[in-house]
Amino acid sequence: MVEISTSILSVKKGKESKTFFALEAAKTDYFHIDVMDGKFVEKDTYQTMIEYASYIRRISNAPLDVHLMVQDIKQAVDDFCAVQPNIITFHLEACKDEEEVWKTIEYIKQNNCKVGISVKPNTNIEEIYKYLPYIHMCLVMTVEPGKGGQTYLSEMTQKVKTLKEYIDNNQIEIDIEVDGGINLRTAPEVKQAGANILVAGTAILNAVDYKVIIDELKCPIGDVSI
Ligand code: DX5
Ligand code: ZN
Repeated sequence: MVEISTSILSVKKGKESKTFFALEAAKTDYFHIDVMDGKFVEKDTYQTMIEYASYIRRISNAPLDVHLMVQDIKQAVDDFCAVQPNIITFHLEACKDEEEVWKTIEYIKQNNCKVGISVKPNTNIEEIYKYLPYIHMCLVMTVEPGKGGQTYLSEMTQKVKTLKEYIDNNQIEIDIEVDGGINLRTAPEVKQAGANILVAGTAILNAVDYKVIIDELKCPIGDVSI
């Protein structure tokens, strides 16, 4: 089954609460919280995302899908565990060595939270294979992390396919999430490639009706006539 995680990064100022209520009513499967620290990526959304996530936690039962684009992962795990996320995803590239990756996986689990690892477009997918049996999700970035509204990098389709083949061949139970430039035009190919959680920000927030766009993004491959 395909699920939709709505990125609230580009929510319009002053429209936050209205938007969050509408997304809850439209039954987004997750709220995707993009945490940026101004170091791992240029932008800094740290405090805003703490505020948004705490607010959403109060108005919705939908799970929070926290995407950490930060250098200091441990501090961010401490800060964001307060809003009881369903899953916290960190970047492989933010870890200095393998030991830090293992420690981070363990630390997030100790906080009763699922664990995801994300890879940037230039990172080889093979680099993540050894961790897959120990985590819940692999997030394949389909744009350079850092901002919303970018264009899907078409070479990422093959990366998702390679990952999907690997997990199937090795019978690993894990979600594959894609993030960046996902819309009605790009959704069919990522689903076909094997992604089962689609992050979408701009495509959903700019749509007239959140329920319609979420259903369309989810719908079985081949059902959309665009
Ligand atoms: C990019 C973020 C994404 C992004 C998605 O660094 O991780 O979650 O906001 O936004 P769209 O759907 O606009 O590409
Ligand atoms: Zn994201």
